[in-house]
Amino acid sequence: MSSQREFEFRPRDFARIRELIHTHAGISLGEGKSEMVYSRVARRLRATGLGSFTEYLALIERDAGEFEELVNALTTNLTAFFREAHHFATLGSLLQQQIARGPVTLWSAACSTGEEAYSMAITAIEALGDQATQVSILASDLDTRAVRVAELGVYPLERASALGEDRLKRFFLKGTGARAGQVRVRPEVRQLLRFRPMNLIAPDWPVRGPLDAIFCRNAMIYFDKPTQRRILERFHPLLHPKGLLFAGHSESFGHCADLFQARGNTVYAPVGAGASER
Ligand SMILES: C[S@@+](CC[C@H](N)C(=O)[O-])C[C@H]1O[C@@H](n2cnc3c(N)ncnc32)[C@H](O)[C@@H]1O
Repeated sequence: MSSQREFEFRPRDFARIRELIHTHAGISLGEGKSEMVYSRVARRLRATGLGSFTEYLALIERDAGEFEELVNALTTNLTAFFREAHHFATLGSLLQQQIARGPVTLWSAACSTGEEAYSMAITAIEALGDQATQVSILASDLDTRAVRVAELGVYPLERASALGEDRLKRFFLKGTGARAGQVRVRPEVRQLLRFRPMNLIAPDWPVRGPLDAIFCRNAMIYFDKPTQRRILERFHPLLHPKGLLFAGHSESFGHCADLFQARGNTVYAPVGAGASER
C-alpha cells in the first residue's frame, strides 16, 4: 500500500499527527484512521509544495497559520439543514416556553458550515413570529474555514433544497447570473446569529449564560469520555435550569448522569439547581 503513495507516511508521522490533534482539539483518531489522515494531510503537503511528512511536521511547529490548516483538514464537517429533524420540533416548543421569560439565547457549539445554526434561527422565526427578534444564537466551531462558510450563509441550491419550496422562498434568496445554483440566507434570519471560531477544549469560552439551549451534536463523538465529561461540566452551569442540551444521534451521556438527564431522544436536561436562574 505505502509503495503506491505519493509521500512516505511512517507510523511515527501518523502517531505525531494523532498526538497533535488530540492535544489541540480533543479529537481521538483511532488506529484505523491512518488512510484518512494520510489523504487529508497529503493535500496540505501539495498545497505547501513540501515533499515529505517530515518537512510538513517541521513546518507546523513554526507556522501557526499552517497548523490551523492542518486542524481544519482533520475535522469532519458533515452536516445538513434540519439534520435530526425531531430536535427542531423540541426546540420550537422550548422557545415558546422560554420566550415568556424574556430574551432567549442559544448556542450551536460545533456549527460546522452553519446549517445547524440557520435551522435553529428558522425554527425560532417559525415558532415565535415577530418575537424571534428576541432570540440570539451564537454559532461556533473549531474549524476556521467552516466558520467562514457559515458566516457567509451562501449554499449550493441542492444543499438547501431538502428544506422544501416554502422554506426556501421564505428564508433564502436565490442567486441569479453568476450566482445561479446558489442560495443566500435572508438578512432577517442572518441577524439572529453571530459566528466565531471556538475550541471546545480551550480553557476559556467567551460564552455567557444562562443559555436556553445548547446544540452540541456530532462533535462529542470524536472525544474520549474524560474530554466529554470536562465539556459537559462546563455546559451545565451555562444552561438555564429549564434549558436543554441537544446531542448527536449516536452520542449518549449516560456516563454523566449526575450532570444531565435524558429527556427524550438525544435531548438532555441539566440535573439539579447548579444552573443559574435567570
Ligand atoms: C460532524 S460536524 C457536526 C456539525 C453539526 N453539529 C451537525 O450535527 O450537523 C462536527 C464538527 O465538530 C467540530 N469540532 C471538532 N472538534 C472540535 C472542538 N474541539 N471544538 C469545537 N468544534 C469542534 C468540527 O470542526 C466539525 O465541524
